[in-house]
Amino acid sequence: MMHRAEQRCRLPGWRDRIMSADDAAALIQDGMTVGMSGFTRAGEAKDVPLALARRAESDPLKITLMTGASLGNDIDKRLTEAHVLARRMPFQVDATLRRAINAGEVMFIDQHLSETVELLRNKQLGKLDVAIIEASAITEDGGIVPTSSVGNSASFAILADKVIIELNLATPEAMIGLHDIYIPQMRPRRQPIPVTAPDTRIGTHYIPIAPEKIAAIVLTEGKDSPSTVQPPSTDTQRIASHLIRFFEGEVEAGRLTSSLLPLQAGIGTVANAVMNGLIEGPFENLTMYSEVLQDSTFDLLDSGKMTFASGSSITLSEECGQRVWNDLERYKERIVLRPQEMSNHPGIVRRLGIIAINTALEADIYGNVNSTHVNGTHMMNGIGGSGDFARNGQLSIFVTSSTAKRGELSSFVPFVSHVDHNEHDVDILVSEHGLADLRGLAPRERAVMIIEHCADPYYRPALRTYFEDACRRGGHTPHCLEKALSWHQAAIEHGSMRSVVL
Ligand code: COA
Repeated sequence: MMHRAEQRCRLPGWRDRIMSADDAAALIQDGMTVGMSGFTRAGEAKDVPLALARRAESDPLKITLMTGASLGNDIDKRLTEAHVLARRMPFQVDATLRRAINAGEVMFIDQHLSETVELLRNKQLGKLDVAIIEASAITEDGGIVPTSSVGNSASFAILADKVIIELNLATPEAMIGLHDIYIPQMRPRRQPIPVTAPDTRIGTHYIPIAPEKIAAIVLTEGKDSPSTVQPPSTDTQRIASHLIRFFEGEVEAGRLTSSLLPLQAGIGTVANAVMNGLIEGPFENLTMYSEVLQDSTFDLLDSGKMTFASGSSITLSEECGQRVWNDLERYKERIVLRPQEMSNHPGIVRRLGIIAINTALEADIYGNVNSTHVNGTHMMNGIGGSGDFARNGQLSIFVTSSTAKRGELSSFVPFVSHVDHNEHDVDILVSEHGLADLRGLAPRERAVMIIEHCADPYYRPALRTYFEDACRRGGHTPHCLEKALSWHQAAIEHGSMRSVVL
């Protein structure tokens, strides 16, 4: 292991800083704020967090944990079970942590993914004590070469008092050169960020830090968890085909070219199915400017339909992972990984005119979208990067199945129980039944589009009745306020919204 580490680590005197995960975890004290690498189950520090969870069983401690986004290898689960997490931000997808958040045991701060390090840099989140960063190499100046994600790692390492590096020797050496690390200047003298196309490179291939801050180097060989994306289903394929027809119409109308515009797709089965659908579509020279590069990105690159993809992480299934990581040199010219502050930067998203495709839990008849809270109270995952893209993209698209829980819940409701993306940020809604193009429509026009094109036919009569009753009362955005959340009340009481139809 030391021999292989020698090839990856050029920092003079690095051997003196090698220690076990347990010894490195001992550097973390009760009450500290810790920033960890990891974004959409890719590139997380793997051994030190688990060592911390083990230690907490006999030596209880609580920390504030910040990451890029979600972690793999059950790290959030183990840290929650060991009661290590007092506060957690900005995103998670773990069922055990979700339960602790909803029980009020862990304070979860659900943030736009582009914003966390901006708040840290501006000292609005207090000071960062320790950063734990997975690296594929360390340069002679102590620069950290990340692995399968950049996330918030660069700013965490730069802002933390101490840095623990997990040097992962199982990562391909070809990762060196994959990343583009750029940190914006401090305000008020910040310069424009010169990304003008998905393939623009503006930074270094490593995270520059003062080498004396490296308090520990832990050698690891852990693997990222494979993605949990399901193969396309009939519903997701229908959603994809509605969207592809819509894009074809936009090209015919001269609003888009056959290269569309840079695509952003949220993680998950629907987004993956939509991106896969583009392989068969009449489009060419596609590009991505997104957060996560998933299997469909590499299928599009391999098909010749996509020329370049920019992201903050690579999250792949077992099979696609074999293909990509064993042959990274072949893809390296056509992909780049950036800090999430750059991949999700509102200014760049607006400049490039991104087509943003994200998933809703539910939407209401006027186009407000809830992506995070079940029945208005219970956190699912978090807003993630969807807000960064939805507010600023050229086309803001939300997709969802028209019902959930085998038809017991309608995903189209009179009033969403929580608003993540308001009516001003939503251009297009798509379900398996159809697509509602809301651009340039007033609320009363949008309601008709959404009910008739997207809602499940079973729930349409009840939505029509609600809307007609509301219109009789008047208003720019008509509502029957006493009934607006009655569908959710039915879901809470009966586990089903079917009673609103009867
Ligand atoms: N009411 C209650 N629950 C609902 C629901 C609704 N209207 N719609 C879906 N659900 C439930 C599903 O039943 C499922 O529950 P289960 O895990 O117990 O089976 C769960 O929500 C996930 O739904 P699913 O249909 O499997 O979709 P998904 O895996 O694509 O996730 C989101 C959908 C909205 C939860 C997910 O996309 C997300 O977290 N989005 C916010 C973050 C984001 O957009 N990031 C994008 C940039 S990466």
